[in-house]
Amino acid sequence: MADYTWIHQLAEVLNQRAFSSVVFLTDSHVDSLYSSYCAELQSQVSCPMWKIVVPAGESSKSLSQVERVCTELLQLDCDRKACMVNFGGGMISDLGGFIASVYKRGIAFVNYPTTLMAMLDASIGGKTGVNLSQAKNMIGLVRQPLQVIGPDLSLLQTLPQEAILSGFGEMIKCALIGMPALFDALEQLDVVEEAAIQRVWVEQCAMLKQEVVREDPEDYSYRHILNFGHTIGHAIESWRLATEQPIPHGVAVAEGIFYETALSHRHGSLSAEEMSRIQRLIRKFYPPLDLQEGIGQILSYIQYDKKNHADKINFTLLDAIGVARPDCLLDWQYCADCLSSQGQ
Ligand SMILES: NC(=O)c1ccc[n+]([C@@H]2O[C@H](COP(=O)([O-])OP(=O)(O)OC[C@H]3O[C@@H](n4cnc5c(N)ncnc54)[C@H](O)[C@@H]3O)[C@@H](O)[C@H]2O)c1
Ligand SMILES: [Zn+2]
Repeated sequence: MADYTWIHQLAEVLNQRAFSSVVFLTDSHVDSLYSSYCAELQSQVSCPMWKIVVPAGESSKSLSQVERVCTELLQLDCDRKACMVNFGGGMISDLGGFIASVYKRGIAFVNYPTTLMAMLDASIGGKTGVNLSQAKNMIGLVRQPLQVIGPDLSLLQTLPQEAILSGFGEMIKCALIGMPALFDALEQLDVVEEAAIQRVWVEQCAMLKQEVVREDPEDYSYRHILNFGHTIGHAIESWRLATEQPIPHGVAVAEGIFYETALSHRHGSLSAEEMSRIQRLIRKFYPPLDLQEGIGQILSYIQYDKKNHADKINFTLLDAIGVARPDCLLDWQYCADCLSSQGQ
């Protein structure tokens, strides 16, 4: 039984403003499951509404989809007073947020996240963008959504286990950078599945992200704490994206957390005991990835990370569970050593 509670809220948000039209952007997979949500919204908004569907999957986060969707917007005669609704996971909020930011120099957009990853992370904070070939998020800008709807946890019932695990990777990150009580709770879990995800955890993670973004909206320094696990995680994700075996963003981040935890102990002040707790939690749910085959590529992606300075790599390290330190510059060699010793 579909639950349209949040669709009603969304319709209210849209009807309060005099938008000339609403464009509902979603991916093919979400559309096949939830096309009734779009129809329900259409029956409630007071302006014309269109739906645009892009193929599901990370490869749609591309400049060619930006061009395709912008062309469609133009053909639909959408003007600057149109509003885009991004209904989907992080791929859709990144792609749709970017398109809404550049189409006719910017139209309003609302995010309605449908994955755990998007509910607690990707739909919040205004980072939008697409990938350049395999290099993640190379083209993008920061622009805030008019509103983020939800979290509508009812949508998680259809989410594949892999996507739950992916969102859970970011949840572990939130716990590590600022929510030590959440870390204690996550340690008690035996399985990660939809029924185990508590609403309060999702809301607290989303709130943490909002607070960090409010402190440093332009991503100068403090906001970098959100990148814990991502310097190595993004490189692993980019490497696998270039192979025939891509892995979800949050699974790559979980692997990145494993290694960056080791760096936090070796080159920072994280205790050996807390390092073991974190690495144990990661390995309980994420089997080790064999990185040796891709090590050269992974290291070169790390070197080209947007946040680096000269030949030092910019990491966020942990001082303790719940306490993160942004902008720690480490020698590239430390990172290479850590990956080759498999974070032990
Ligand atoms: N902008 C940011 O701040 C930020 C933060 C984190 C991640 N991201 C980006 O988000 C993307 C990953 O997000 P994601 O994990 O949501 O991936 P995704 O959007 O690709 O969704 C994963 C899969 O789940 C499907 N799906 C979505 N909702 C569903 C539902 N309710 N039921 C069943 N299937 C559903 C999708 O069709 C897709 O196949 C990456 O591109 C990452 O770089 C951005
Ligand atoms: Zn992330």
